[in-house]
Amino acid sequence: MKVTLSVLKADVGSIGGHIKPSRALLDEVKRFVKEAGKNLLIDFYIGSTGDDVAILATHERGVNDEKVHKMAWDAFLAGTAVAKKQGLYGAGQDLLKDSFSGNIKGMGPAVAEMEFEERPNEPFVFFAADKTDPGAYNLPFYLAFADAMFCSGLILSPKMGKGFTFRIIDVAHTEKDRIIDLNTPEEIYDIATLLRDNERYVIESIFSRSTGGQAASVSTTRLHNIAGKYTGKDDPVALVRVQGEFPATGEVLAPFEVGPYVAGFMRGSHNGPLMPCPLNATISYFDGPPVVTGAAFCVHEGKLTEPADVFDHPFWEYVRAKISEKAAAIRRQGFSGPAMLPYSELEYGGVVEKLAALDKKFKLRD
Ligand code: 13P
Ligand code: 13P
Ligand code: MG
Ligand code: MG
Repeated sequence: MKVTLSVLKADVGSIGGHIKPSRALLDEVKRFVKEAGKNLLIDFYIGSTGDDVAILATHERGVNDEKVHKMAWDAFLAGTAVAKKQGLYGAGQDLLKDSFSGNIKGMGPAVAEMEFEERPNEPFVFFAADKTDPGAYNLPFYLAFADAMFCSGLILSPKMGKGFTFRIIDVAHTEKDRIIDLNTPEEIYDIATLLRDNERYVIESIFSRSTGGQAASVSTTRLHNIAGKYTGKDDPVALVRVQGEFPATGEVLAPFEVGPYVAGFMRGSHNGPLMPCPLNATISYFDGPPVVTGAAFCVHEGKLTEPADVFDHPFWEYVRAKISEKAAAIRRQGFSGPAMLPYSELEYGGVVEKLAALDKKFKLRD
C-alpha cells in the first residue's frame, strides 16, 4: 500500500526557559491527536526534543494534506492553551500566523513528509534537532549518502552504487521554492559546493537512482524568513528510509559521530557542535548544545512499531563526551569571530539597532 509519513513539529512552550515541554502539554497534544486523528490517521507517535514537540503521523492522504496539517495546527493550539495556563515560557512560540490557511508550511511549525509504496519491511529513522537550523543535516546526510568513507554500502551494494539524487533548496529565496537536483557520484563537488553554506542551501530530499524511491525528507523552514525577526530557532526534523536500496541505519547514524559545528545554540546566534542524544533529550549548557535525537521505526500497513532510540547506546556516551569538549572549546571565545554567527544571520535580532546607533558615533579622521 501507499503510505504517507508526516512529521509536524513546533515549540509551543517550555519549562524553565527553552528547556523542555511540560508533561501536561505533551499529554494534551497526544489527547488531541488521538481524538482529532480518528478518521484521518492510521497511527501516530508524539515525541519531544529539547523544547520542541513533534507529531509523527501515518496516513493515506499524501503529502501537504490540508486536513492532516490543520489537525496538527489545532493540536499545537491546544498545547499552547495548556502552556499559557501553566505559565510556560514562549507559549505558542512557533505559531507565527493568526489562523490556519491550508498548509502548515510557512506558518511556523516544521514539516517533513514522504509518500511511498511500503516495502514488505519498511524501516526508517525520524530525526529531530533543537537549537539549530535545517542546514544542520547537510553534512551528516551528505556523508551518509555520498561518501564511501562513511557509507560502505556505496561500495558493497550494487543498488546503492548507482548513487542518489540530492534535491537542494535555496532557503534565502522566499517568493517561490528555488530548487536544484544534483546526482551522485558525478556531481558530488557541486553538491558539496552548495552544502558548505548551511544557512542558504539545504538538503530538502534525497532519492535512490536505482529505484527512484525517496530516501529522505528534511524540513526547510527558516523562521526568520516568516517572522522577519528572531522568534526562535528553526529546529529541523527529518525522515530517512533505511536498508535495501538505501543506506543501513548505522550508515546514516555514523556521520553524527563528527558532531559538526552548526548554527544555533544560545539565542540562535552562535555556532555549536551537534550532539546526538537519547529521545526526549533536554537542553542545558548555553541553551544547548544543539541536539539531535533519532527514533527508528518499522511501519507496516501504516502501523508503527514502538521507537528504537538510536542514540541511546554506550558508544554515543563517548561521542557526547568528545562533543562536549568541542562545545566548551568554542564557547571559551565568547562572542568572538566564528563563535557567533555572521551579521547576515544576526540581522533578525537586536544587534541591528545597536550597530545603527554606534554607526552614527563614528568619526572620519582628518
Ligand atoms: P528555541 O528555538 O528552541 O525556542 O530556542 C530559542 C533560543 O533562543 C534559545 O536560546
Ligand atoms: P527573553 O529576552 O524573553 O529573556 O528571551 C531571550 C531568549 O530566550 C531568546 O530566544
Ligand atoms: Mg523555545
Ligand atoms: Mg526549540
